Amino acid sequence: MTLIDAAETVRRRAYAPYSGFLVGAAIRGAGGGVHLGCNVENAAFPEGTCAEAGAIAAMVAAGERAIAEVAVIADAAEPVPPCGGCRQKLAEFAGPDVPVTLATTAGARRRTTVGDLLPGGFSARFLGG
Ligand code: THU
Repeated sequence: MTLIDAAETVRRRAYAPYSGFLVGAAIRGAGGGVHLGCNVENAAFPEGTCAEAGAIAAMVAAGERAIAEVAVIADAAEPVPPCGGCRQKLAEFAGPDVPVTLATTAGARRRTTVGDLLPGGFSARFLGG
């Protein structure tokens, strides 16, 4: 099963009754584990969480802290890029060269990297004065 196939499997479990927009994310950790997440919305709209955030939480809960590869899929006209917050969340655990595949259920693909998605991002190296 490809990482996109894994993301599509979890996309179908998304809880998105408000937007109707189901998103799935799959992360391959540097240790080889595959970690899945889907968006989980809430009646209090700002409390909803993105698919990428769920996959990152699953990765950390499984004991992995380095992202090797990311896949995100949605039923959209073109591949959906991660939101700004999720770009920052991905960059916490992924170097700039980590590949990200964005996909649609219709079969479109866009290959990018964490560095291309978040150039000039804030990171831990700025902390500590
Ligand atoms: N969403 C994600 O889960 N990931 C993205 O990359 C973009 C947006 C979710 C958030 C919300 O539940 C729905 O898609 C519509 O914005």
